[in-house]
Amino acid sequence: MNRKKVIIDCDPGIDDSLAIMLALASPELEVLGITVTAGNAPVDMGAGNAGKVLDFCHRSDIPVYAGAGQPLVKEYINALDTHGADGLGESFLDVPKDFHVQEKPAVEFLAETLGKGGVSVIALGPLTNLAELIKKDSQAFGKIERLVSMGGNFRSHGNCSPVAEYNYWEDPDAAALVFRTLSEQNGRIEMVGLDVTRKIVLTPTMLAYISRLNPETGGFIRKITKFYMDFHWEWEHLIGCVINDPLAVAQFLDPEILSGFDAYTDVQTDGIARGETVVDSMRFYRRPANARVYTQVDVRRFWHLFLSRILSRPDGALDLIDSILCEEE
Ligand code: RIB
Ligand code: CA
Repeated sequence: MNRKKVIIDCDPGIDDSLAIMLALASPELEVLGITVTAGNAPVDMGAGNAGKVLDFCHRSDIPVYAGAGQPLVKEYINALDTHGADGLGESFLDVPKDFHVQEKPAVEFLAETLGKGGVSVIALGPLTNLAELIKKDSQAFGKIERLVSMGGNFRSHGNCSPVAEYNYWEDPDAAALVFRTLSEQNGRIEMVGLDVTRKIVLTPTMLAYISRLNPETGGFIRKITKFYMDFHWEWEHLIGCVINDPLAVAQFLDPEILSGFDAYTDVQTDGIARGETVVDSMRFYRRPANARVYTQVDVRRFWHLFLSRILSRPDGALDLIDSILCEEE
């Protein structure tokens, strides 16, 4: 199999952890390393959480690199209110005794690895590490094979303000630098934003199905998502929780899951619209597209991929997915 080399840049984070599980369960991917940025949780906490997930997946061989401890310009604002005091749903799992974060800073790993070419990035948090890479070695950034980012939004309302999604709101200057650099380099980011991720809701029924098929995996997911489910009930009266990040990995694995359009996009860095992705869908600015903006998602296709991978079962053995989804429609 011609495995795709990828780096996962993330801020674990509950949904980041589910995304890492999906990536590690997918033989098409060769995960070269995990780079962590401050975001949902402070960077050192996030790195430890990555270590916990790797340990659960029996993949402690994958190196974890700590990156940016705060945004490029703005004051760091975490999302521990959503992800719990430990950043992993207050599961309070121990960091594995044999886990150690690499000495090398994330930006150096990114520059060295991406500089060789042929490596993609799946970005699941604020884009600070990628912005630091641009500042250090913009040529290496330009060699990214595919850049898929969970972030932003087109028509869907924000989750940090009326118009902004957390990853691009927490470090809007980094997001703007990434989008503007892509524009200069004639590159393209695949923006997996709230318009599509909001359709991916892990419900108690789906979690019960996962647990029936694999009590260990179901138990782990239950442990790290309970807090997140409570948060969604309290703030959105939603039964379940939106798992944003796994959709970015799923799209990398199966380009048929999402559809959308190409457009020139920029990010507002300040003021009331801080972090807003301004998507020029009507081509007012007459500028070449630097983003593929996803607006439609095949929810059924996602769940079949997600469950077949994390449960390592052939898709045909997952006969209840469709009836569960039908009930939830
Ligand atoms: O807005 C949702 C995104 O912000 C997700 O990636 C979540 O993990 C947080 O990083
Ligand atoms: Ca994230």
